[in-house]
Amino acid sequence: MIDITLSKSASGVVSALPICATPALFTDFTYDNIGLPQNTEFLNTMKRNPAASLDGGLGARLAASGNPAWVALAADNMGAFKTPTLRNVAKGESNKRFMHNGVLKSLKEVVHFYNTRDVAAENWPAPEFPATMNTRRVGRLRLTDAEENAIVAFMRTLSDGWQPGVTNNQGVL
Ligand code: HEM
Repeated sequence: MIDITLSKSASGVVSALPICATPALFTDFTYDNIGLPQNTEFLNTMKRNPAASLDGGLGARLAASGNPAWVALAADNMGAFKTPTLRNVAKGESNKRFMHNGVLKSLKEVVHFYNTRDVAAENWPAPEFPATMNTRRVGRLRLTDAEENAIVAFMRTLSDGWQPGVTNNQGVL
């Protein structure tokens, strides 16, 4: 997603600021491991063994690159995926699954995951790659239910009429 800075003031006001230089796209174009679990529902349906189906994302690509300089970076990037744009993320949301493996089923669940991933009582399944997981910016945000809902409402404001491959009236993509 986005790299938003979430902050909560003493009065309880939550602000979410895109900290990258391209606010219209709502991504910082980096890769991160946000601690997602495997999608066992999918793996079971596909009759795949979870233990043999780890998806290392960027780290796996680097490991397989054959370039020694990149291979050296693989371990630190296991489980990292590209932060996708949030523009239009809410479009068709009721028919969507979220994240690279579709493990989260709604925008509300996405925000709840960021908010409570590291809260033991929430019983989130174990992260696929705990060693490289981002524990600094996400995991325990202490947002209320209403604040989670406000972030979902914010994401719904990012939908527009843009369609891939359709030009505007100046002929520009
Ligand atoms: C509360 C703030 C945040 C919100 C509302 C948010 C929202 C989202 C959403 C909706 C997606 C799924 C996009 C899709 O499936 O099309 C996503 C994916 C992602 N976000 Fe965030 N995000 C937040 C914070 C962050 C932060 C702080 C980071 C980096 C530390 C981050 C990194 C990522 C990454 C790497 C993905 C892709 C993960 C994957 O597919 O495995 N997000 N985010």
